[in-house]
Order: sequence, then C-alpha cells, then structure tokens
Amino acid sequence: MKTFKALGLVSLLATGCAFAATAQEAQEAKTPARQSWTFAGPFGHYDQAQLQRGFEVFRNVCANCHSANLLAFRNLSEEGGPAFSEAQVKALAAEYTVKDGPGDDGAMFDRPGRPADHWVPTYANPEAAKATLGAAPPDMSVLAKARGYEVGFPKFIFDLFTQYQEAGPDYIYSLIALGYSDKKDLNHNDYFPIPGGHIAMPRPLSDKMVDYTDGTPPTVDNYARDVTAFLTWVAEPKLEDRKKTGLRAIIFLLIFSGLLYFTKKKIWADAH
Ligand code: HEC
Repeated sequence: MKTFKALGLVSLLATGCAFAATAQEAQEAKTPARQSWTFAGPFGHYDQAQLQRGFEVFRNVCANCHSANLLAFRNLSEEGGPAFSEAQVKALAAEYTVKDGPGDDGAMFDRPGRPADHWVPTYANPEAAKATLGAAPPDMSVLAKARGYEVGFPKFIFDLFTQYQEAGPDYIYSLIALGYSDKKDLNHNDYFPIPGGHIAMPRPLSDKMVDYTDGTPPTVDNYARDVTAFLTWVAEPKLEDRKKTGLRAIIFLLIFSGLLYFTKKKIWADAH
C-alpha cells in the first residue's frame, strides 16, 4: 500500500514538473542583448542624422501598419529631434489627407495636412487594423518607453548605478532586426514575449527597402537601429533636457557637499 502511495506521489510530482517545464519553455523569449545608443548614459543625446533616417524608415515601413497618435508633424522640425526644416515639414504634412470639419454645410471634408496636425494613421482605428492584420499593431507614440524586459536580481542593482534605461530600445531593435528566423514559421519571433513567440507582424525589414541619402548602408541592421532611435525620440522628446538637468543637479550636490564638509570642519575646529 505504502509503495503505491509513494509511487503515486512521485508520478504526480513528475507530471507537475513536466507541466511546469513545458509552460516555462513555451514562455521563454530571448533576452535582448544590450546595444550601444547615443542617447544612453548621463551625457546621452540624440543623433540628428540618425533620427532623420529613422523617420524615413518609420514613415515608409512601420507607418503602413502602426499609428503614432501623439506625434504632430510640427514636432519633426523641433530642436533636439530630427529637426527637419519648417518648409520640409510643411511639404510632408501636405502629402497626407486629413479629415476636418464639419464645414458650413454640416459635412466633414478632406483637406491636405498641416504642420499642426497629428500623424495620419493608415488605419482609422485599432479595430480596422486588427481586421486586416490579425492583431492590432500598438500605437508607436510611447512604445519605446512602454516596452522592456525583466532584468532581474542582481543586475538591476548595477543598472541603478550605470543608469541603464534602454531596455525598450534594446527590445525593439532585437525584435525587428534579430528575432525572425527563416527556418521556423514566418511569424515566429524569438524576442516576442508570449508563449510560443507567435507574432502577427511579419518580418518588417529587408535590405535596401528604404533609400538613405546620407551614405549610410541601407541594411536591416541600420534600419532597425535608426528607427528604434527615432521611436525613442518620439516616446521621449525631452530626454536630453532631463539628462542635462540631472547632471547639473548632481554637480550642484557634489559642490554643496564639499562646502558643507568645510563648514563643518570650521565650526567644530575649536571643540576638543
Ligand atoms: C504589415 C504590418 C506591420 C508593419 C509594416 C510593421 N508592423 Fe509592427 N506590428 C504589427 C502588428 C499586427 C503587431 C502586433 C503583433 C501581435 O500582437 O502579435 C506589431 C507589433 C509590433 C511591436 C510590438 C511588440 C510588442 O511588444 O507588443 C513592435 C515593437 C513593432 N511592431 C515594431 C515595428 C517597427 C519598428 C516597424 C517598422 C520597421 C513595424 N513594426 C512594422 C504590424 C506591422
């Protein structure tokens, strides 16, 4: 009797472990490797030429499916971003058709876009995109900040000191540049963190699909880095200001600590 019970227990445990193992296996997406970005670290800043190239990739590739509702055309001419000229942005906006109105007759009407308009999405709403693509592509306004991956103990403690904040960009880059493999099914992505790694987005990039005018080689790797930098700027256009303020605050605190130290020394100099 006892042996049976023990056997039963063992087999129960074994099945439990097997279940846990398959669940674990299915869930395991690869952890993105850390990339080097100009906007990383306390002196981080955007590379204007890279943002301009990234915008071309966004506009010609990603924007066919993804929206970016918080991005206004005029943002593209702001300092610290791609900083296109105002004339360029005006011409760009005019290429898009915006629904406006109602006019005097009470009807909505179409007109060419203006710099103050927000980005014009290909699909009017997520439902329409889902109906065509099988899943709704997430809006890109804050995607680079909204995505990331678990760093885990003890690495995240070191990250506090190195100021690592690029989990989102590292994830996006890995997903679009490295995640697809020809051997498995075309919608498998090694970095997509759902069980099985099945993603509704087919491989979005291939070499030479977007023209670069500044001599940068038109490769998947460069497209992925550039569009990721662009999306990071879209998600956090004030990153440079934030880092500059942080640096100033730290310098101030250092000087202030020094002053306090000497003040303390002076005040207590006669006390023995
Ligand atoms: C053919 C349409 C299409 C194109 C083009 C496309 N995407 Fe997607 N994308 C999708 C869909 C659909 C999803 C949702 C996938 C899902 O939920 O399975 C998605 C999801 C994503 C995700 C989100 C993964 C997550 O964590 O939720 C990222 C990041 C992404 N796309 C980046 C890009 C970038 C960058 C480009 C341009 C280089 C691009 N996509 C081009 C359709 C597209």
